[in-house]
Amino acid sequence: MLRSPWFWCTPIVAALSTAAQWIQYPSNGFATMTHYTMPANFIAACGCTTESENYPTAAMSQYAFGSSTSYGPGCGRCFNLTLLNTFLSDPPFYPTETKSLIIKVTDLCPFGGAGWCSATPSKPNPAGAYINFDLVYPSSAIPDNFFPSNASLYGYTDFGVWNTSYQTVSCTEWAGYKNAAALGSVTSLGSGACCPSNPTDNSNDTCPSFSEQNGIPPDTHTNSANRRSITCLPLLSFIAGFLMAL
Ligand SMILES: *[C@@H]1O[C@H](CO)[C@@H](O)[C@H](O)[C@H]1NC(C)=O
Ligand SMILES: *[C@@H]1O[C@H](CO)[C@@H](O)[C@H](O)[C@H]1NC(C)=O
Ligand SMILES: *[C@@H]1O[C@H](CO)[C@@H](O)[C@H](O)[C@H]1NC(C)=O
Ligand SMILES: *[C@@H]1O[C@H](CO)[C@@H](O)[C@H](O)[C@H]1NC(C)=O
Repeated sequence: MLRSPWFWCTPIVAALSTAAQWIQYPSNGFATMTHYTMPANFIAACGCTTESENYPTAAMSQYAFGSSTSYGPGCGRCFNLTLLNTFLSDPPFYPTETKSLIIKVTDLCPFGGAGWCSATPSKPNPAGAYINFDLVYPSSAIPDNFFPSNASLYGYTDFGVWNTSYQTVSCTEWAGYKNAAALGSVTSLGSGACCPSNPTDNSNDTCPSFSEQNGIPPDTHTNSANRRSITCLPLLSFIAGFLMAL
């Protein structure tokens, strides 16, 4: 019986993945939300098609994203984020309206900086959250008044950081799901990109951690015409290098 090379690679990948401790988050919980601007036609960490930027997207904090560089298991995942309250403002702001947004993760929010993306499995961020979603905003995909505010009370409209609740959702709920050009990864990055349409945790539709294993991702190119064969070579050379370093 002919097995795909992945059949033989997977146990090695699984053994290595227990080595680094990423954040294993539940399917529902609380997270913080910040926002950042992304230049037009920018190819972010996952290598998702630039057309994805026409719909709501976000970067996910490093230890939940699952990689310190390039793609990780967080790539392509979709979440329903609901704004709850602000907490850096005095007093905290509780909007009267409930606003939710379904985002797709296309980028990595690196550990460091102001600390919102710096939660580790043993230490939450300054708000006590283990996940931060850094929303691409302003965005043509999101109304300019998405974030509630009260300028007369606070003297400003942008609170910067929000407490939110999140739910993992199927990407079929994401606004870009019906546009094939907004799904998948760019061809120019080859196997350096990984952006599944709808990751489900199966190895055939979910990205490995680039930083941990430099594993070869499932082929998520939009144009699969020049599909290349998958081999274990980079992984084996990684292991060889790792053993030599010991
Ligand atoms: C997103 O969350 C809000 C608030 O809990 C809920 O009303 C809405 O139905 C959710 N949307 C989806 C698609 O799950
Ligand atoms: C976020 O909201 C939850 C639910 O209301 C609350 O328990 C938690 O303390 C809030 N966190 C912050 C930082 O406001
Ligand atoms: C803004 O805050 C003031 C003072 O609490 C309140 O009277 C007013 O209704 C608020 N406006 C909005 C739009 O929430
Ligand atoms: C991944 O594998 C599962 C189970 O074998 C299958 O149902 C699913 O269609 C596959 N997904 C892709 C994207 O190939």
